[in-house]
Amino acid sequence: MSRLDLVVRGGLIVTSRGTFRASIGIEGGVIVAMGSTETMPPAERKIDADGLLVFPGIIDEHVHFRDPGLDWKEDFRTGSMAAAAGGVTTVLDMPNTEPPTVDRQGFLSKLEAASRKSVVDFGFYAGVVPGKVDALRELAELGAVGVKLYMSETTGIGEPVDGLDLIRAMEVAASLGLRVGVHAEDGRTIAALREVLRAGGRRDPLAHMEARPVAAEVLAVARALLAAKATGCRVHVFHLSSGEAHGVIRALRPMGIDVTVETCPHYLLLDGREALTRLGNVAKVNPPIRSREDAEALWEALRRGEIDAIGSDHAPHLPEEKKVEDVWTAPSGFPGVETMLPLMLTEVHRGRLTFAEVSWLLSEGPARIWGLYPRKGAIAIGSDGDLTIVDPEAEAVIRSENLHSKSKVTPFEGLRVKGLPVYTVVGGEVVMEKGEVREDARKGRLVRPLRRSA
Ligand code: NCD
Ligand code: ZN
Repeated sequence: MSRLDLVVRGGLIVTSRGTFRASIGIEGGVIVAMGSTETMPPAERKIDADGLLVFPGIIDEHVHFRDPGLDWKEDFRTGSMAAAAGGVTTVLDMPNTEPPTVDRQGFLSKLEAASRKSVVDFGFYAGVVPGKVDALRELAELGAVGVKLYMSETTGIGEPVDGLDLIRAMEVAASLGLRVGVHAEDGRTIAALREVLRAGGRRDPLAHMEARPVAAEVLAVARALLAAKATGCRVHVFHLSSGEAHGVIRALRPMGIDVTVETCPHYLLLDGREALTRLGNVAKVNPPIRSREDAEALWEALRRGEIDAIGSDHAPHLPEEKKVEDVWTAPSGFPGVETMLPLMLTEVHRGRLTFAEVSWLLSEGPARIWGLYPRKGAIAIGSDGDLTIVDPEAEAVIRSENLHSKSKVTPFEGLRVKGLPVYTVVGGEVVMEKGEVREDARKGRLVRPLRRSA
């Protein structure tokens, strides 16, 4: 065999089904050899992974890289550098950019920006706005991994989608074989509550939790799942935040609904009331971070295999945008793509997860949900040469100023983490080595679903 581009020697490979020791050879961007170190052909570059864990490239299925149009908050250069630093090899980007990814022009302008700037691979969700549902056809042709729709208003995307628009979007998506991911909070409930709170003079961060109660999530989740049932559409619930809403999914799933579920590190690890009190609007996010009991219910769901993916909901805003007094003017969200993997590895040390579950929730699960598996989400011959190599014993303290994002504010400020990515390999090229991002490395490519299933 000729010389390979890269051989990773002697690491412990972590798949969703367990671990085994093997060396991996990559050539032309693809895994071409797996086996004992002695069987590896010679290579241009070798990484000694003795004592390290080798995960299939981590996929963050939920990022807002703000490019094009909102690039003072983030762009594909800084966002993808944050991804690489956090061990993430593929990101799936949300459509609430400017222009939004709701038609051909929106898709192509994002593709142009990402192809030029991203150091990791990327996929795009097709957005839906009322009256533009038919554009989903061309977005599917262009390679959208799925559909994202907002049932309440959000940063940079117009009217909420609900009722007839929701049903129409699901009908079209089902005919195209695309799964529909929902931001499930009931827009009408929230708008009404916000006006009541505002009129009562509330401006404090805790008012955010009151304006977006669990009931609003429950209502929207139920409607999204029932619309999926009625239309035969596959559905994905993004950033599930509450035990109650999870209970609704449990109850409705047996009706024959193909539903997958994502939650995020902040819903598992933080207490909303405590975080908003301590950090103010920095901790403001949609849906709001809930109670300890909700976090426990999500952990329980995770243990039962009822959570299919963890995504970061990387939603960067500038510190000066976040650090304002008035809760209603502060934007929602914070960066997360760089901290997600270390936070979850830390939970392995705390006994709440296994490495195999991390491999499933942060790589194989999202790859399967969005039709990218086994090109992504797997370490196997023929899969893309995307690897996240982790030192399970390395420790660090999360510091806002060290983040690669333009949004240097995190609710995890000061937290000690154990388990860090030390190499991020995308398509056989090392884009991060021991914390240093190689900006001049290869540029990322668009990932399209391998098959859409109607
Ligand atoms: C997201 C953003 O800022 O784009 N914010 C958030 O709080 N999650 C949008 C969204 O998902 O609602
Ligand atoms: Zn959302």
